[in-house]
Amino acid sequence: MPKLAGCHILLGVTGGIAAYKSPDLVRRLRDAGAEVRVALTAAAMEFVRPLTFQAVSGNPVHHDLLDPNAEAAMGHIELARWADHILVAPASADFMARLTHGFADDLLATLCLASDAPITLAPAMNRLMWANPATRANRATLAERGVRFIGPGEGDQACGETGAGRMSEPSDIVAALAGSGDDRLAGQRILITAGPTREAIDPVRYLSNRSTGAMGFAIAAAAAARGGEVTVVAGPCPAATPAGVTRIDVETAVEMHEAVIARAGDSDLFIAAAAVADYRAAEAAPEKLKKRDDEGGLTLTLVRNPDILREVAALRSRRPFVVGFAAETERLAEHARDKRRRKGADLIAANWVGRPDSGFESERNALEVFWEDGHTSLASAPKRELADALMELITEQYHAKR
Ligand code: C5P
Repeated sequence: MPKLAGCHILLGVTGGIAAYKSPDLVRRLRDAGAEVRVALTAAAMEFVRPLTFQAVSGNPVHHDLLDPNAEAAMGHIELARWADHILVAPASADFMARLTHGFADDLLATLCLASDAPITLAPAMNRLMWANPATRANRATLAERGVRFIGPGEGDQACGETGAGRMSEPSDIVAALAGSGDDRLAGQRILITAGPTREAIDPVRYLSNRSTGAMGFAIAAAAAARGGEVTVVAGPCPAATPAGVTRIDVETAVEMHEAVIARAGDSDLFIAAAAVADYRAAEAAPEKLKKRDDEGGLTLTLVRNPDILREVAALRSRRPFVVGFAAETERLAEHARDKRRRKGADLIAANWVGRPDSGFESERNALEVFWEDGHTSLASAPKRELADALMELITEQYHAKR
């Protein structure tokens, strides 16, 4: 991924309402030191005029494959060679489909085909179009070929719906492009669990724990920064979803289990950072439980929840590289090593709980990490930094094992 100063960025703009943000993106790319040339599709020009892009980029705008005048100024092959990086933002569903199939029927598609520069897409479309199996398959194919995706994010859409499909904000796109310069997880599908689970006792009460999801989402951000395609299956928690990360909200361990098992076989890496409740009520009462008038207690019968980590680690075919966590109050190394073996994980990250500066609800944490033939300590640090150090280690071990 380019450091942006002096970098030649060819910005493709396709037809979608998010194109109104693209001139701002050009400005921000230039602020970061990049030189920008813009190629518009015919549909993009319905949304934003070429003159706008010419003014903000300081360069002539390209939109016609067969215009002899434009070809005389800078031919499409020359333009394809000029680009150090091709960024398409917004990338419509139609454009993704055409790129997947190698179309060369307009200037932008031809440039993508005629260039060996890395391609990044910032998709924007209606949530159902994004979720459609055709778009998902195109995305997977493109990612396999090394095309990088930034977003889309979730939220209100111009069509009045709410969901995944919003183009990432220009500032997030620039930050992701400038990135860490690390794309060792590009095209790798990374599935992460985060947060607590909530197990209903009756319609108003539940069993849960103090997990905030901070560590899981910090790991998600660190994985996305390395180019990974990250999906987080999250229990109820306040952690924000990092740019470019897909979030699937669940409530119970059984729902989390179902969401993970449905995706695990299509994942390259599975990181179980959720604090999954080990037990749930054998039967959640359909009505609110009433307090009895006598002084007697109440007995709840609990049953075991599925162990998601263990199940993914035991997959026989298409098993991802598996990372688990362990929270320990004593004999940490011994228990963590034993847990890694019992659960069948490739790597386990253990932290002390019940001590200052570690574990749930703490801003900081420290980890002891164990794998088959190694161990390392990650010193106490804010969770974002620690997540980055852990992701570094996971990336190394993942590539070593592959
Ligand atoms: O067995 P224990 O709960 O200590 O294991 C912790 C690890 O196992 C964590 O990575 C956690 O996300 C995962 N886990 C799970 N499903 C469960 C319980 C724990 O995936 N039901």
